[in-house]
Parts: sequence; C-alpha cells; structure tokens
Amino acid sequence: MNILAPSILAADFKQLGRQLEEIRENGAEYVHIDVMDGKFVPSISFGMPVIKSIRPATDKVFDVHLMIEEPIRYLKEFKESGADIITVHYEACGDVAATLQGIRDLGLKSGLSIKPKTEVDVVKEFLPLCDMILLMSVEPGFGGQKFIDGSLERAGELRKIINASGLPINLEIDGGITLGNVADVLDAGVNVIVAGSAVFKDPAENTKQFMEILNGRN
Ligand code: DX5
Ligand code: ZN
Repeated sequence: MNILAPSILAADFKQLGRQLEEIRENGAEYVHIDVMDGKFVPSISFGMPVIKSIRPATDKVFDVHLMIEEPIRYLKEFKESGADIITVHYEACGDVAATLQGIRDLGLKSGLSIKPKTEVDVVKEFLPLCDMILLMSVEPGFGGQKFIDGSLERAGELRKIINASGLPINLEIDGGITLGNVADVLDAGVNVIVAGSAVFKDPAENTKQFMEILNGRN
C-alpha cells in the first residue's frame, strides 16, 4: 500500500489542528514530524512538547524523523510524547543496531535514514532491525528544497536490497517531492511519500491530489 506522510514542518502552526484534520480526511495515513537539533542539521524545529500537544488531534500514525545526534538518548521520551514510528539517521548514531533495537524494545516501529551522499549499501546489515528505510532526497535540515538528481536510482537500488532481504520493510523518501515527480518516485519502488511544502500550500486539495496518484499505483 502506498502511504502519504505530510511533513508538518511546512504547516501553518496557528492552524495545525485544522490542517491535521484536512490531511486525515483526504487520506493521509501518516503525519511526518521532523525533529531537528541544531547540531546534526543546522536548524532547530520542535520537540516532545509539540508532539505531545498534537497527539490528541488525530488518530493517524506519528512518523517521527529524528535529525538529532545520538537519538538513543531520547527514545523513551519520544514514545511517551506519542511517536508510533521513530526514524534515526545512520550518520547520527554511534551504535546504529542498539538504537534500532531500542526503538523496537519500546514496542515502536523503527526506521533508518540515510543522507543523499551516504552509500545505500550501509543499510544492509541493519535490515533485520528495521521496519522502514528513509532515503533523503535533499540534504536534511530544511523544507522546500529541490529533489536531488540521482535519488530515483538510489531508491531503485534500495528497493532491490529490501526485496532481496525478503523482509516486509517500507521504503520512504523525503525531500523535494511534488505532484510532478511523485509518480516516478513510486515507480522506483518507494511506498511511503513525505511531502511538506507540496501538501501544506493547500492541505485538503493537495492531499487529495497526492492520494489520487498514490491510490492509482497501489
Ligand atoms: C527535511 C525534512 C523534510 C521536509 C520536507 O530535512 O526531513 O521532511 O519537511 O519538505 P519538502 O517536502 O518541502 O521538501
Ligand atoms: Zn523528514
């Protein structure tokens, strides 16, 4: 099944409750939540109190993307705030396996993300500990950037690696996804689509349009 994960980094925070309702009504199954620490990435976004406060606003899956150094320090707090999936960066973990295992030990789904310049092969040894692989198609840190050429090929390689493992692992992509390129991304083997600016310009209408394309390729 193809899933849309609108990134609330691009939302209008004074109307967040209403916008969460609009994306839910139009078929988005995940809410993508970007946590940035000002160290692993240059920006600082938001953390546990914001996640906790919006948790009652929707019953959809909270897909929490941690762009922070040594996320193993905070897994329990993110669970308590309402995370359902926690994705960590390969480049940010001293012990990737222990971090992924820590997420699973809390009863949550685990994701492993790689930045655009990280070799796709690095994920192989961690696949038994992953429910999702997140391919960054921009340098993490900011919304509204342009999709990096070459990400489609990388997505295709990751899909092959996942299929060869025989494990039921989702492949998510994040950065620069639009209504214009999402079909190509799905064709490359991605099944979870993060989109920030392309959804929140008009959350109801854009979610609807994304879902028509995603459902058309299920
Ligand atoms: C970037 C974040 C993304 C971002 C995507 O570091 O991980 O989730 O919000 O924004 P768009 O879809 O606008 O590129
Ligand atoms: Zn993200």
